Amino acid sequence: MATRRLIVNPIRLVSFVFALLAALMIDTQIGYAQNTYKQAADNKLHIAATQPILSEKEKRILLSLSLHVLGDPPPSPSNRFADDKTAAELGKALFFDERLSRNGKISCASCHQPDKFFTDGLPKALGIGLTGRNTPTVIGSAWLQWFYWDGRRDSLWSQALIPFEAGVEMGSTRTAILKTVGQTPKLKSLYQKIWGEFPDKLVNSLPDNAGPLGLPLEKRAWKAIPESTQVDVNHVYANLGKAIAAYERTLLPPETKFDKFVKRYIVDGDESAANILSTAEIAGAKLFADMQKTQCLQCHNGPMLTNNDFHNIGTGTFGELNADYGRVWGIQAVLMDEFNCLGQYSDAKKEQCYQLRFLNKDVHHMLNGAFKTPSLRYLLKTAPYFHDGRAQTVPAVIRHYISPPNSGKQSNHELTGIDLKPREIAYLTAFLYSLDH
Ligand code: HEC
Ligand code: HEC
Repeated sequence: MATRRLIVNPIRLVSFVFALLAALMIDTQIGYAQNTYKQAADNKLHIAATQPILSEKEKRILLSLSLHVLGDPPPSPSNRFADDKTAAELGKALFFDERLSRNGKISCASCHQPDKFFTDGLPKALGIGLTGRNTPTVIGSAWLQWFYWDGRRDSLWSQALIPFEAGVEMGSTRTAILKTVGQTPKLKSLYQKIWGEFPDKLVNSLPDNAGPLGLPLEKRAWKAIPESTQVDVNHVYANLGKAIAAYERTLLPPETKFDKFVKRYIVDGDESAANILSTAEIAGAKLFADMQKTQCLQCHNGPMLTNNDFHNIGTGTFGELNADYGRVWGIQAVLMDEFNCLGQYSDAKKEQCYQLRFLNKDVHHMLNGAFKTPSLRYLLKTAPYFHDGRAQTVPAVIRHYISPPNSGKQSNHELTGIDLKPREIAYLTAFLYSLDH
């Protein structure tokens, strides 16, 4: 057996040689394969570094959502003092003045709190009483076209005239406001720097508490004032609103992580800036930019992420209690408002009031339960969400879009329903939060 083992079987030899050759070949093949794999991996890394994480179309869409394209606040032709520094100074003083309320405890800033990004963190605002709606921020309000969730005012200054006299907000009256301003040297002197002599004689002649929106007695006192005097009072009152608007126009939307990403990665083409946003935030941005999949862009577009229009997304309430029909009332109210752009207290020429003039007055049924599309910036700071603060979190809002109401009066909305996996909800949320800070 030992000898036989030493004898080299020719067949075995041949097979051995073949095996050796094959092994060599395989080895070289492996080597080759390894090389190609390595090259491919290198290429892949190279591609990862140079292949854009976003398509050209996605880049264009994201650019359109960034502060990079926002520009200066649009002019406010109905307010000649919109960009006047002294007016802004007076407006700021008025904004923080609690004496301008019935109980001396509420100012604009009680609900629009600077340390809460000019909101209050509550589902529904609390002034002298409980209001029916959620407090929006006033940061970036210079870019709004309509004010309030139902758009019942068409300018910042006409909006500012409401809370003073609203019973559940500050509960004061027109004449009381004018008297307080006239009796406060700082406010009076700022007023005079802008509008000249303060009308002391007029103001002193007025009853202490009279206004068209006050308690029955205060309303009666207002009605008793001659109409031409009412107009004089309204001119002074409107000026106070114009000063507040001038202040609010200085509250500019701050740049966020998303804006930095767009500026450096998309505008400057700086590849190293790709990691300003996390993988999840980029995935969310792609989802947001995908009109077919999420539809968000249909209403939330432009650098403030709102089309400044009114939409019915099934959030109206039609019951007896807490009914809120939204825009359908807002349209009537803004047309009737004596302080609107076309009214006698406006500084605009009629043709400058294009929003009001071209307002679609057709009370289309969709307006019943429609609300103003809010901005999607700074969401972490402005919770809870929707006009009545019913949604505590952003994922809860997104779930509303996934399964909008499908029965009852609320089902009469514009949404078609979207399909998102839990992971995609998380991505979309991460993207929206990148627009916060
Ligand atoms: C009691 C809390 C409260 C007070 C006080 C208050 N606001 Fe508001 N503010 C709200 C709420 C709630 C809304 C939304 C109401 C609605 O849509 O009907 C709002 C809406 C606004 C808006 C419109 C924002 C938008 O996105 O449409 C502006 C601007 C504003 N307030 C400024 C002011 C000014 C100026 C004052 C003081 C003169 C003031 N607010 C006083 C709670 C308050
Ligand atoms: C048809 C128009 C429309 C579409 C589409 C739409 N929204 Fe909205 N969005 C609105 C309106 C209107 C509101 C306010 C509704 C209310 O307050 O009752 C709103 C409110 C919100 C809010 C609450 C913000 C706040 O400050 O209260 C968030 C968040 C939001 N939308 C995110 C999205 C996302 C994400 C998408 C896409 C999945 C989307 N929206 C699609 C119109 C739309």
